[in-house]
Amino acid sequence: MISEEMETLEAIQKRCSLKTWISERPVEPEKVRAVLDAARLAPSARNTQPWRFVVVQGKEAVTSLVEAAFFGPTPTVKQAPLLIVVCARPEDDVVIDGKPYYLFDLGLAVENMLLAATALGLVTHPMTSFNEAVVKRMLQIPEDVRVVIITPLAYPSTASYEEAARERLSQRVRRKLDELVYYHHWSKPEID
Ligand SMILES: Cc1cc2nc3c(=O)[nH]c(=O)nc-3n(C[C@H](O)[C@H](O)[C@H](O)COP(=O)(O)O)c2cc1C
Repeated sequence: MISEEMETLEAIQKRCSLKTWISERPVEPEKVRAVLDAARLAPSARNTQPWRFVVVQGKEAVTSLVEAAFFGPTPTVKQAPLLIVVCARPEDDVVIDGKPYYLFDLGLAVENMLLAATALGLVTHPMTSFNEAVVKRMLQIPEDVRVVIITPLAYPSTASYEEAARERLSQRVRRKLDELVYYHHWSKPEID
């Protein structure tokens, strides 16, 4: 196993989306595998494991996918040595009480992946700003499979992960726990 990992809670605290801090430096195959393996180990409804990952690597492949399929300013995403395209066939998972769980299960797998990357000092940035039809055509993804999220996986363009994340973490916006948690029954939070 790779040695310089941080603890889980530390990775949760340090993870943030860092698409503007991407280095071209290649990511070692064992680190890519460790990140994908973390996703594989996620729980899923009835253990359906609906997730599938297309790893797009190499300058030419990454650049052409980003240029053809991504919306908005993405110059730094193009620099990533690889993109992980997260997909699922909705029919592979369950619908319970009208709730399709494939998206939930993919979320669990993706968060595992983001945390593993953070623990390894790698940057990620989950993104939905792409044209799904174009991604599917370019990557030969079957008709009944949905592309849910794409993230770059890269070394930071700074000396360390901490340096790349400092500014974003200092500006992090999150609701307070008091606004989110009710005890005993659903109720109006104490603080408005
Ligand atoms: C489902 C999902 C879709 C997202 N799509 C985009 C996107 O298309 N472009 C982008 O720049 N960031 C995207 N993000 C990143 C979020 O904006 C980011 O997670 C949020 O602002 C919190 O910041 P943090 O990840 O740094 O904690 C996405 C995140 C998630 C979870």
